[in-house]
Amino acid sequence: MVTETSLSPGQHKKLSRIVYEESGVVLNEKKYSLLLARLAKRMRITKIASVSDYINVISSDPEEFDEFIDATTTNHTFFFRENKHCEYLIKILDKKTPLKIWSAASSSGEEAFSIAVQLLANSFSLSIFASDVSDSMLKLGRRAVYPMERVKNVPSSMLHTYFQKGKDRWKDHVRVKPAVQQLVTFAKFNLLSDTPADTFDIIFCRNVMIYFDTPTRQKVVDNLCRALKPGGYFFVGLAESLNGLDHSLKTVLPSGYQKK
Ligand SMILES: C[S@@+](CC[C@H](N)C(=O)[O-])C[C@H]1O[C@@H](n2cnc3c(N)ncnc32)[C@H](O)[C@@H]1O
Repeated sequence: MVTETSLSPGQHKKLSRIVYEESGVVLNEKKYSLLLARLAKRMRITKIASVSDYINVISSDPEEFDEFIDATTTNHTFFFRENKHCEYLIKILDKKTPLKIWSAASSSGEEAFSIAVQLLANSFSLSIFASDVSDSMLKLGRRAVYPMERVKNVPSSMLHTYFQKGKDRWKDHVRVKPAVQQLVTFAKFNLLSDTPADTFDIIFCRNVMIYFDTPTRQKVVDNLCRALKPGGYFFVGLAESLNGLDHSLKTVLPSGYQKK
């Protein structure tokens, strides 16, 4: 089957608006190739040959609509990414108080499990709510199986204590041990449209707002700050900041904030 390999300006506008309204991700002219590549993949999978037919399908089929939004998210992540934030928390927090943590764009779970194993290794008690808009990433997080290559930054003592090595055809993979898995609950949560039902001591919302424009970032920060307990900590990615946004958080380290 031959699929179309270009988008008319009208089709690009329509598809990027759908993505923006649903997830907040901006796929403007500069992201034309990315949008086209992700769309072409869905068209191949669904065996739909024309862009206009595909647009009609996502307008009437909620499942394919979700698949399309899922396909347009960028999910890159890895264990122990931007670990300065976690190291800071280990230094300053009281080990006696159980911590409620939210990994608010958790992708496939590496962020949540990295935080969990480090806090456990330092005798903290904790629970983590790990959320994302992408069903396929949540599925990977719940499975908690990762190629060895993905855990290369995990210190060997923690790898040994909190991960199980696979056997036979899984010999190049590790699984997060059940004792760690049970501390992390994965759930779908759209930062743009869902309202947090709980409050947290620490919120990580890293490497997602970089895909949003300023009004969306503001909305997300307002939404998340309401879910942060007074004195709680809020972290964005090291390439991100809350500059230019209205908030009442105090800066405690690069990309790290505390609610007054
Ligand atoms: C690059 S990953 C970041 C993963 C991890 N936080 C890290 O720093 O490594 C960005 C994640 O944000 C998610 N995302 C994008 N828009 C979202 C939205 N509106 N609500 C929730 N998650 C969203 C994507 O599905 C993706 O998994």
